[in-house]
Amino acid sequence: MVIPQHVAIILDGNGRWAKSKGMPRNYGHVRGAKNLEVICRDAWNMGIKYLTVYLFSTENWKRSKDEVDALMKLFRSYTKTCIKTARENNMKVRVLGDPSALEKDLQKSLADLVESSKENTGLNFQIAINYGSRDEIIRAIRRLAQDYKENRIAGEEITEELFSGYLDTAGIPDPDLLIRTSGELRLSNYLMWQLAYTEFYFTEVPWPAFDKAELTKAIEKYNSRERRFGGIKEE
Ligand code: IPE
Ligand code: IPE
Ligand code: MG
Repeated sequence: MVIPQHVAIILDGNGRWAKSKGMPRNYGHVRGAKNLEVICRDAWNMGIKYLTVYLFSTENWKRSKDEVDALMKLFRSYTKTCIKTARENNMKVRVLGDPSALEKDLQKSLADLVESSKENTGLNFQIAINYGSRDEIIRAIRRLAQDYKENRIAGEEITEELFSGYLDTAGIPDPDLLIRTSGELRLSNYLMWQLAYTEFYFTEVPWPAFDKAELTKAIEKYNSRERRFGGIKEE
């Protein structure tokens, strides 16, 4: 079986999963965060080199204050735990998104997490938090415009490759496989530039119930596809 080098996940359905168990939405988020630790380990054991997960979108601020507060609290404890797990599992963690809207202490823990794991050589683990693809592209264009204005780059030098280097995912290969759990068939502003040629896999299984067997199913499905990049595969 060919293992995709980079898997991106929209981990969706925490709320519905909790509701189906007669529990509050936040319980779903707590279990979802626990599951993420397990899937990180499974992904690496299966041979996946890059895992990029969507934790909080630029649109998620529209949720109730209670839910946003609970999520931020969860991210605080998750980030602390992740500093430990990154050390134990040799994970290199990067953060995608604009951290400036987050509380200062969470920004600091995220920065510590990135800094303390930057030399690690195991799983490359990207967490997208206050991330939106449109926002990422706009922030990239602003920096690019600044470099243009200050004559660090010329117009003809602007290529797809150069532009990619301005995105939050600079230096990270594009995802081979995108998984969205819990039945929704949309991107919700996730990695729109990077997913140009990615294979998509959607499952009804909600994130807290998504386990190694489900990840294996997604990879099997990926293997049954013929990947094309605009051309036709030579026989
Ligand atoms: C995904 O689960 C986690 C976040 C977006 C933070 P949801 O909270 O979206 O759960 P559903 O989709 O409402 O069930
Ligand atoms: C996408 O899930 C964002 C994350 C998983 C963090 P949502 O549940 O917020 O997306 P919509 O609102 O259903 O599109
Ligand atoms: Mg959702």
